[in-house]
Amino acid sequence: MKPTYVFDAYGTLFDVHSAVARHADLVGPEADAVSALWRARQLEYSWIHGATGHYTDFWTLTERALRYALSAHGLATGTTVERTLLRAYSALSAYPEVPDVLKGLKAAGARIAILSNATPGMLEKAVAAADLQGLPDAILSVHVLRRYKPDPGVYGLVREYLDVPAHTVRFQSSNAWDIAGASAYGFQTCWINRAGLPPEYPDMPADRELSGLAPLLNDLPAA
Ligand code: LAC
Repeated sequence: MKPTYVFDAYGTLFDVHSAVARHADLVGPEADAVSALWRARQLEYSWIHGATGHYTDFWTLTERALRYALSAHGLATGTTVERTLLRAYSALSAYPEVPDVLKGLKAAGARIAILSNATPGMLEKAVAAADLQGLPDAILSVHVLRRYKPDPGVYGLVREYLDVPAHTVRFQSSNAWDIAGASAYGFQTCWINRAGLPPEYPDMPADRELSGLAPLLNDLPAA
């Protein structure tokens, strides 16, 4: 059986801070803080909407989170800055190693999927903007379920669409909470800890930890 590698999208393949970084001059001296709060609220909104059963799609939550982050830093909303940042978010930069890693895994016979809280439209645009078309065998969005990670049903989409047992799936995420969800579900998990953050969720630990995706090519499983 071909090995199956599943990747989280935002923060793992795509740099969520690249939108603000590209337009830092427009945002001003608090650009980094705005970007961090934007991401934090985007995630928090997904958990609250998921846990309450009030699913609202991830693009809408991304828009709301940006408005909150701008307002919280005393910046105006409904402006060209807001529109520019949202446009940039639709075309985030991939981390530099991503194309080679995905191509290398495919060349070695692996199957590749993306599993993300984002809408299918967001994922399609992100993959196209980063020139990764044709590399993922499957792009799985929570949108069909109207639930968010770390709901176990979301990880179940991999089994449903790729027909592989959970314990054989190699799951990569830079988000510690996502790794906790995937480990609890039964995937083989790899925490992509780019920022060298301390470990979290000791009850649902990652099976391994890497500082980026490139080392995945060093120990390719036999196809
Ligand atoms: C994703 C976000 C949450 O699922 O990182 O892609």
